[in-house]
Amino acid sequence: MLNIIQNKVFELKSELAYRAALKKHEKNLPVIKEGDTPSESLHERLICDALKKEGVYVTTLEKLGLDSTANLLYKASSQLSRMEARNKGRLGRKLPEIHTVTDLTEFSVWGSEEKLLNIAENYIGLPVAFQGVHLRKDFDNKNQFGTLLWHKDSEDRRMVKIIIYLTDVEEKHGPFEYIPVSKTSLYSWDYCQIYYKLWKSGHVGISDAQLKEIIPKSDWKSCPGPAGTVIFTDPKTTLHHGTIRTEERAALFFVYTANRPKRPELCTQYWDDTFARPELMQTAIQK
Ligand SMILES: [Fe+2]
Repeated sequence: MLNIIQNKVFELKSELAYRAALKKHEKNLPVIKEGDTPSESLHERLICDALKKEGVYVTTLEKLGLDSTANLLYKASSQLSRMEARNKGRLGRKLPEIHTVTDLTEFSVWGSEEKLLNIAENYIGLPVAFQGVHLRKDFDNKNQFGTLLWHKDSEDRRMVKIIIYLTDVEEKHGPFEYIPVSKTSLYSWDYCQIYYKLWKSGHVGISDAQLKEIIPKSDWKSCPGPAGTVIFTDPKTTLHHGTIRTEERAALFFVYTANRPKRPELCTQYWDDTFARPELMQTAIQK
């Protein structure tokens, strides 16, 4: 009992400190720069606003217009060609192949583009940390498990994930799918039911069938798109998953949090040895 009270007091203190930090940093938020054209500045503003209102904004690499995109795509393509479906999980589940590519310059330079950092800081409301990048191949599976279940990420109170499709993604490739945050406003009945089901699952995730009982399928938003589609999302506030696929999908995942995230231990996966790191594999081959 004493432990529970101590934890609640700690959580309350931490929440108050977070609110105070947000207030303090408000005047230091980077100004969204005027682009060469009005539509460029509008684009960045639209992304920030959509993250707040809906939790997701879908755009393209072309519209982002970043100088480092060509190098990023060249390197991503060469890394992808070296990835194989090596690991079969239990019960015939095909686990995703994930490579941590944060240390490779082409990925870190793109992820550190000022425009992206500004969007992340304006949305998160605090100085931000670019945590890193996963290059990921997801394979066909018949049943929902892992990130195929509806879930929320837990690294921080607010975060930004930028997903770039490296291959065309139609329904059969399992597009990213989400529930707009406007449909599950905080402490609404739907929010409480979702929270309860997630809690009951041990925060692993809930199935399509379970979610249908709370949110009608007509409110689920799927994000198919050609290679080069870019999805900005806050995976902490937005219920999301990858849909069941019959053909594989390749994508990059860039992750941003506040520079002191709530759960720093969950952020190490973006730069440590949790997943394969191509630069280490290369060194091992050379030895
Ligand atoms: Fe997720």
